[in-house]
Amino acid sequence: MAKFFLIGYMGSGKSTVGEKLAAKLNYDFFDLDKLIESDYKQTIPEIFSTKGEKEFRAMEHNTLKRLLEKDNIVVACGGGTPCYYNNMELMNNNGVTVYIKMSVDSLVNRLINAKDKRPLIENKTEPELRIFVNRQLEKREDIYHQAQYTVKGKDLNINELALFVKEQVGV
Ligand code: S3P
Repeated sequence: MAKFFLIGYMGSGKSTVGEKLAAKLNYDFFDLDKLIESDYKQTIPEIFSTKGEKEFRAMEHNTLKRLLEKDNIVVACGGGTPCYYNNMELMNNNGVTVYIKMSVDSLVNRLINAKDKRPLIENKTEPELRIFVNRQLEKREDIYHQAQYTVKGKDLNINELALFVKEQVGV
């Protein structure tokens, strides 16, 4: 029985990887952002614009805590999830944390066409986005590196990741 938490910056592929990993492990997959949206019946951009980021972080924390009651799950977190409240500690104490690491260049390339629905970056031009990602990743990586495992997100082989986690965790 295990809970896997995939963490990493916006655009690092947490949801895609998580869904595939869950299928390989025969676990249930949860996308934390989607769960927040269904819990609170508002989209992430709506929550940011009507309630603000502070409130969003409280909602994110509550939804994460609710997920801890489940087992045999793979959770794709939001990019900021580990950085607020004691979320990183909660995930490390209750499950296996995996940081999907990607370079700023790859992140910017992926995010430039995926800014909608991401309120923190939706209005940024490419140069602004690069500066923002660089700065924010530098700050967030201290926390991301508290994950128990770090894997390279670029060209990540899901079969290998699944085998690796099975060996490490014995699931
Ligand atoms: C955020 C990342 C988003 C979402 C929200 C805030 C962040 O999730 O939770 O827009 O602070 O990095 P993704 O990483 O799935 O884009």
